[in-house]
Amino acid sequence: MPTKRLVTIERHIIEQQKSFPQATGEFSALLYDIAFAAKVISREVRRAGLGDILGYTGSENVQGEQVRKLDEFADDVIYRAMDHTGRLCVLACEEREDIIPIPEEFKCGHYVLLYDPLDGSSNIDANVSIGTIFSIQRKISAGERGTLDDCLQPGHKQIGAGYVIYGSSTLLVYTAGLGVHGFTLDPTVGEFLLSHENIQIPKRGAIYSVNEGNTQNWDESMRRYIEYIKMPDKATGRPYSSRYIGSLVADFHRNLLYGGIFLYPADKKSPKGKLRVLYEVNPLAFLVEQAGGAASTGHQRILDIQPTDLHQRTPLIIGSLENVKEAETFLQGKR
Ligand code: AHG
Ligand code: MN
Ligand code: MN
Repeated sequence: MPTKRLVTIERHIIEQQKSFPQATGEFSALLYDIAFAAKVISREVRRAGLGDILGYTGSENVQGEQVRKLDEFADDVIYRAMDHTGRLCVLACEEREDIIPIPEEFKCGHYVLLYDPLDGSSNIDANVSIGTIFSIQRKISAGERGTLDDCLQPGHKQIGAGYVIYGSSTLLVYTAGLGVHGFTLDPTVGEFLLSHENIQIPKRGAIYSVNEGNTQNWDESMRRYIEYIKMPDKATGRPYSSRYIGSLVADFHRNLLYGGIFLYPADKKSPKGKLRVLYEVNPLAFLVEQAGGAASTGHQRILDIQPTDLHQRTPLIIGSLENVKEAETFLQGKR
């Protein structure tokens, strides 16, 4: 049995950097910083039941959602790991209404970090997998400090994206545009070790992930698609199995490895969809396309959306290429 190469995420990032001759190492260092923040969050998530870190802070975020202590902790860790490094010119995240400037006393860098510090918060107290999602853009504004325009770039401009999933183990999955690679945290040495090299999503899968509690709020085309995938058909592996955790990162990661489709469509409750473009949907769309899959609103490629608001929401259909294309034919009224 060939033994796996022992490759740390730091070494992998340096190897990947060699493919970018003009690289200064700043982007690589930014990825290390994210991996470091992930280790600190992972430690807290693993012991959440012990400390006074479960439950609510009592405050509400810009989304009008109750903020959990772990949401706030994760946000604080990422910010404090990033604000002084000189790699970023601005940040933005789910928990804060406006852009997050780099403090005046620190110099600015060439990158923008957009992040969901803790995804799947409703699952924290139930000890169900949760995650962190991040997206990296290049600074495009003229001045020294970053601006809102630096944050509101379409997803196809991303130069890096990834997520951390705090599940049975802590896994960091990222892309820098050269494929999708996963690293499992070995807590005994505090290193992320390469465990999933060059992840490719199956062209078609037999899993569908959607909150069927919203069925009455969907439009007719969505209801017809979900009915269709429940009808037996050997050629396309139907009926598909339903798997829905309610943590986007956990649902996405399972479908990335096994194949399948995740849907959070617009509905009467959320006419623009529920998931946020900048720090949930764009990073996962970049990853899934790098892994050979697809991500769509049902009518448009996710990465082509031109954002106009930090917390803009969108319908999301994401996963195996053939499954997404098939869903689009229903959602576009073609069948
Ligand atoms: P967050 O915890 O960052 O607010 O994200 C929650 C999102 C996403 O993780 C998940 O897919 C979705 O909310 C679940 O929504 P429903 O509970 O409406 O199905
Ligand atoms: Mn989220
Ligand atoms: Mn969140």
